[in-house]
Amino acid sequence: MQLRGIDKDIIAKLEEAGYTLESLAISSSEELSDKEDIESEIAKKIIEKAQASLGIQPISAMKFLELESKRGRITTSSNELDSVLGGGIWTQELTEIAGGFGSGKTQLCFQLCINVQLPEDEGGLNGNAFFIDTERTFSPRRIVEMASYRELDVEKILNNIYIGSALNTNHLFSIIEQLDSIIEEKNIRLLVVDSFASHFRSEYIGKKRLVERQQRIMQIAEKLIVLAVKHDIAVAVTNQIIANVDEFLFGSPEEPALGFAWAHRPQQRLFFRKSRGSSRIARLFDSSRMPEREALFYVTERGITDAPLPSDFYE
Ligand code: GTP
Ligand code: MG
Repeated sequence: MQLRGIDKDIIAKLEEAGYTLESLAISSSEELSDKEDIESEIAKKIIEKAQASLGIQPISAMKFLELESKRGRITTSSNELDSVLGGGIWTQELTEIAGGFGSGKTQLCFQLCINVQLPEDEGGLNGNAFFIDTERTFSPRRIVEMASYRELDVEKILNNIYIGSALNTNHLFSIIEQLDSIIEEKNIRLLVVDSFASHFRSEYIGKKRLVERQQRIMQIAEKLIVLAVKHDIAVAVTNQIIANVDEFLFGSPEEPALGFAWAHRPQQRLFFRKSRGSSRIARLFDSSRMPEREALFYVTERGITDAPLPSDFYE
C-alpha cells in the first residue's frame, strides 16, 4: 500500500492491523486515530489520500444492476416475505425489523441466524451469524427446535452463532467497535442487533438528552452501515414501536422508536403486526428498490413459514 506524503511506518502499522486502501477509504478519522493511535489530522489525510488513490470510478447503471443482482441475500423461510424484500435480507445494507411486542421480530432474527449458514442454492450465504442481544432474549433452545425441524446439524448451527450481550449503549458501542476483526475471523455474514432501541430508550430520558441520544444513534447506525458494506454482510436490527403522539394529525397510532434521525438510516424497513393466531403481517416501507407491499407469514414451532402445517394449529 502506498500513500504519498504519509510516513512509511504509519502505513506499515495500518497494513499490519489489516487495513487496505478500500477499508481506509471508508474509515472515519475518529476511528483511525482512536484505534490505531494516529494523530487526528494525519488520520484525516490518510483517508483523503486513500479515497483519492482509488479514484472516482463511475459505473454505468447497467453495471450497477449487474453488481446488485450478484449481492447476497438470506432467505427468511417465507417465500412471500422474501418476495416482498426482493429475495430476502440483503447484504451490504441495514434492514430494520420494527413491530410491537410478540410480533415476531426476534423469531425472524433466530431464523436468519440459521438460514445464513445454508448453502447459497438453499437461500443462505455459507457463513456464520453474530447476534447482539440487548434484552437477554437469545434462546439456544429455540434455535435447536427450529434447526431440528429442518433436519440440520444442530450442533454445527449453534457453534456458528456468536453472541454478544450488550448491557448498555456504551457496551453496545464497544461490541460493534470490535466486530471488524471478528467478522473476518469467524466468517460472519449476518449481524443482528436485537433490539437496537431498548438501551437508548431507557438511558436517554427527557428532552434535554435528545440531541445527545440522536448523535449516539447516528454514530452507531453509521458504524453498522460501514460494517455491512466493508465486509459484504447483512445487518438486521430490530426496533420496538411507540405510540405516535401525532396520531390525530397523521392517523397512524404507532411508529418505530428512535425518531427521525434513525428513520433514514436503514435501506429497508419492515413493520410487523400480529394477525390471527400465529399469523403475522409484514409491510415493507422506505425501500428504494421495492414497492411498498405486505406479506403474510407465520411464526410456528418450526420457525418462520408461509403456510403452516395442520400440526401447527395447536394454539
Ligand atoms: P418483543 O421482543 O417483545 O418486542 O417481541 P418480538 O417481536 O421480538 O416477538 P418474538 O419474536 O419473541 O415473537 C413472539 C411470538 O413468537 C410469540 O407470541 C409466539 O407466538 C412466537 N413464539 C415464540 N417462541 C415460540 C416457540 O418456542 N414456539 C412457537 N410455536 N412460537 C413461539
Ligand atoms: Mg424480541
